[in-house]
Amino acid sequence: MISEQRIFQAYYTKSEPIVSYMVDLLNLNGTETIFEPCAGDGVFIDPILKKFPDIIIDAFELNEEACEKLKVKYSGLENLSIKQTDTLTDTGLDLLCSMGGKYDAVIANPPYGAWRDSLDRATLKKKFHGFYAKESYSLFLYRCIESLREGGKLVFIIPDTYLNLNMHKDIRKYILSTTKIKEIALFPSSYFPGVNFGYANLSIIALEKSSDYESNIKNNFKLIKGYKSVNELGNNNLKHLTSLEIQQKDVLNNINHIFLINANPNVLDCIKESEIKIGDVCDCATGFYSGNDKDRLKVLSKEIRNSKRYEVVDKDKITYDCSSRPLNGIEDDKIFVPIVKGGNVKYIKPDNWFMEWSEEIVSFYKKDKKARYQNSSYYFKNGIAIPMVSSTSITGALIENRLFDQSIVGVFPKDENLTHYLLAFFNSPTCNKLIRTINPSTNNSSNYIKLIPFISPSVGDLATITENVKQIIEQTKISGDYDLNLESKNNTIIKGLYKF
Ligand SMILES: C[S@@+](CC[C@H](N)C(=O)[O-])C[C@H]1O[C@@H](n2cnc3c(N)ncnc32)[C@H](O)[C@@H]1O
Repeated sequence: MISEQRIFQAYYTKSEPIVSYMVDLLNLNGTETIFEPCAGDGVFIDPILKKFPDIIIDAFELNEEACEKLKVKYSGLENLSIKQTDTLTDTGLDLLCSMGGKYDAVIANPPYGAWRDSLDRATLKKKFHGFYAKESYSLFLYRCIESLREGGKLVFIIPDTYLNLNMHKDIRKYILSTTKIKEIALFPSSYFPGVNFGYANLSIIALEKSSDYESNIKNNFKLIKGYKSVNELGNNNLKHLTSLEIQQKDVLNNINHIFLINANPNVLDCIKESEIKIGDVCDCATGFYSGNDKDRLKVLSKEIRNSKRYEVVDKDKITYDCSSRPLNGIEDDKIFVPIVKGGNVKYIKPDNWFMEWSEEIVSFYKKDKKARYQNSSYYFKNGIAIPMVSSTSITGALIENRLFDQSIVGVFPKDENLTHYLLAFFNSPTCNKLIRTINPSTNNSSNYIKLIPFISPSVGDLATITENVKQIIEQTKISGDYDLNLESKNNTIIKGLYKF
């Protein structure tokens, strides 16, 4: 059963410093008409009414019970209208938005990732011009900007994922071209009392609606981060804060309109100016899933980490050498093939995991709904495996003619002579800075990897790094360890190339 909390995403903003910072950002004078699109128990309404008892507020709330409570709490207040409705589909609001909006100010903590059934999602996606409909906060943001009059102000507290996730590309473009951003504050979600959202960071964004595209893109806004406590929100002059002055045009011109919020200018310039990206010199693809790893995946021994759920492989039934690329399965009874899985190991991963790969089962994988026999033209090739999630730094390891699973992005250099160089690069601090600037979360999906700038090494550097990496791999295969000097020599050359 889906809990009420999951349906309504009713995490209330129980933090005085957050609420007062947000209300201050609206800079109200008491004559405004305000919209609260998901009022909850009225945390934003209370301080506004306290300051301006006669101010006009329209409050929407989907949850019947919460709505009844609001009606009781604010009974007798004629300047306050409370409506039980769905802000995303309310027809009155549709009409108001289509006529160019009317509100002077909107303030909200909208639901994040709110649950919707799939039919509903399809309808929403259509209604919101294809905006990503699984994540409700961006739909609220779009809807509420629409509801503002020209020059109207909006303040939202939302996760920071709209700043750089590919799926939020369209909402970024919309904000950058139809509003003037005033300020964005970034802080850990732990500042938000009581709940762990599963989101690393939250943001408070303040903006003003404007139909003047030319002046919007010339607008500069402040992006502030580095707060040490929630009480510092709004004290923008504190020395330890990082305050970036950003022009909207620059963000709009970035690939996918990403907000690059890394303060290191060399990294930013490199991402902006590089003409060749990893996606130009490599094919990037996610790997295979059996649909039922518990039965199909086997482990070398019970000593291997996370092997509890899996049976030990019959070692007489392993085909180690898959360079013949058995895409349709294996004819004889050596039906297990090595597979590279996630986990952050550099350069080379031992053969610890094996996938059932008989002809019969492979034809089943190809048809099965749960299995993912995807990107098979890359199976059993030589390339680099990058785990989709990296807890610390991004890592890369050779695939060496093995299968790779769906937690891996397989990177296949178009020029195989670059393989060892790129392996050194993906394991370097330079590459980590780049990917974490492109996407600050720990996610390395292929869409982000493709955007990493590629700088071609000189013939000499290519030869040196290739030789060092070959030695690292050799040493690792023999002893499980390698000479760290070789790695640091490579890192120095790569740092020299990229300038950071
Ligand atoms: C994250 S809570 C925030 C409540 C309040 N503004 C606060 O900050 O404490 C989101 C609220 O939105 C309501 N809600 C969820 N989906 C909604 C929708 N589609 N339309 C209107 N309200 C909705 C929930 O019931 C919940 O009260």
